[in-house]
Amino acid sequence: MSITDQKKRVAEAALDYVQAGDIVGVGTGSTANCFIDALARIKGKLDGTVASSNASAERLRQHGIAVLDLSQVGTMPLYVDGADEATRNLHLIKGGGGALTREKIVAHACEKFVCIADQSKLVDRLGAFPLPVEVIPMAQSPVSREMVKLGGQPELRHDFTTDNGNIIVDVRNLEIANPVELERTINQVPGVVTVGLFALRAADVLLLGSETGVEVLTWFEDGTGHSHFR
Ligand code: 5RP
Repeated sequence: MSITDQKKRVAEAALDYVQAGDIVGVGTGSTANCFIDALARIKGKLDGTVASSNASAERLRQHGIAVLDLSQVGTMPLYVDGADEATRNLHLIKGGGGALTREKIVAHACEKFVCIADQSKLVDRLGAFPLPVEVIPMAQSPVSREMVKLGGQPELRHDFTTDNGNIIVDVRNLEIANPVELERTINQVPGVVTVGLFALRAADVLLLGSETGVEVLTWFEDGTGHSHFR
């Protein structure tokens, strides 16, 4: 089964988490796009969506799905989004599409984060994918120097401006032994808007596409991991 078919399969599986009357937080990227296309089939069930990027908002509207401002809604039940890397602890790297800040804002406003990904995104340790950091433009050099101090190799993402009018610095070769600690550290650097680590607010469920089906990974309250196939 192709990667594209795996993305479609996990997007379909995420529909099971949508309840009648929900306002759903919607992510960004090719896997999130598969979810938006799947969501269109059950749009009558929804009370609306909140999008994590202009691109997703446009795709949702093209399907005739209502897109609301985050400030118009309270806590939402569900956020569905892809990832660039995911671990079995449900820690993620996101921001390959540059939408990390709005993704993190919308994810934080939702009770459950269902991450959808094809099997190529599963890693034992985060960091082979360059870590995206959204930065206020005037802070590019000082933030980059801080990333070097942390052991990384920062590189400006050329010809790219985020929906918030900022730049992205992609950081290679970071040792991400403790994603929670590194997320806190990078977020405290002046000029950093958001780092693309999703560990403080990790996913609650990871739906992982494979050749044979969808693997469902979750955490129990006692801190033990759990996975099963569906
Ligand atoms: C965008 C993201 C995406 O979720 C991530 O880049 C994965 O994208 P895709 O589903 O196209 O592989 O974080 O900012």
